[in-house]
Amino acid sequence: MSTLLHLNSSARTDSFSRRLGAAFTTAWRDAGGGEVVHRDLAAQPVPPIGEGWTRICDTLLSEGITDIARYGEAVRTDQEREAWALVRPLLDELVAADVVLIGAPMYNFGIPAALKAWIDQVTFPKMVLAPRKFVVVAGRGGAYGPGTPREPFDHHGRYLLDFFRGHYAVEDGEVVAAELVNSLVDPGLADRRAQHLDSAAGALHRAGELGAKLAGHRIPREG
Ligand SMILES: Cc1cc2nc3c(=O)[nH]c(=O)nc-3n(C[C@H](O)[C@H](O)[C@H](O)COP(=O)(O)O)c2cc1C
Repeated sequence: MSTLLHLNSSARTDSFSRRLGAAFTTAWRDAGGGEVVHRDLAAQPVPPIGEGWTRICDTLLSEGITDIARYGEAVRTDQEREAWALVRPLLDELVAADVVLIGAPMYNFGIPAALKAWIDQVTFPKMVLAPRKFVVVAGRGGAYGPGTPREPFDHHGRYLLDFFRGHYAVEDGEVVAAELVNSLVDPGLADRRAQHLDSAAGALHRAGELGAKLAGHRIPREG
């Protein structure tokens, strides 16, 4: 059975990225997908990396250790053991997953600091995570799609897809976003509400589709 790691990073409990994530996980379960591991990075934030982490990272680089199962060999001092105690459970969860679903609101054109802290903790040099699948479910206050005036300011979905491709060798990540969410609260965007409702309905549908499609995705494992 396939395993799903579901991360949330919205500061809101009633949020679009959480709603889209729930649509994905419901469809995943209905389609016979396996275990779902939830981690709420907003409710239980991981701290930023520290000195011990950077030393582990430098040793991995200088000694050419790229096999994730061998990372522990680079942990040598008390400071590094302390850093590793934090990283290891996060990394174990990630490695055990066949599919990674990330709830990521757009904050200030980018991703929430809580999600970036997790990425910094779990990412080491030359770490290939393909053929795991990565799906991002997102809420955005405005519209950043192709051809919109704000498209150049999308350092959120585009950053995540670039990062998955450039660092994890995951070529086929997907971002599913409900856009123009601010039209629900900002009177200046009230005339865009219908557009938001279309976007949210489309995103909910796509999240469900992907949950069902990826429920059977298993990465090859030894043993
Ligand atoms: C701290 C913060 C920063 C935000 N920055 C942006 C932004 O730069 N661009 C944008 O379109 N919306 C922005 N928004 C609006 C959110 O993207 C929108 O509320 C979205 O629905 C949040 O996702 P969520 O519903 O999953 O919490 C921001 C919201 C917050 C709370």
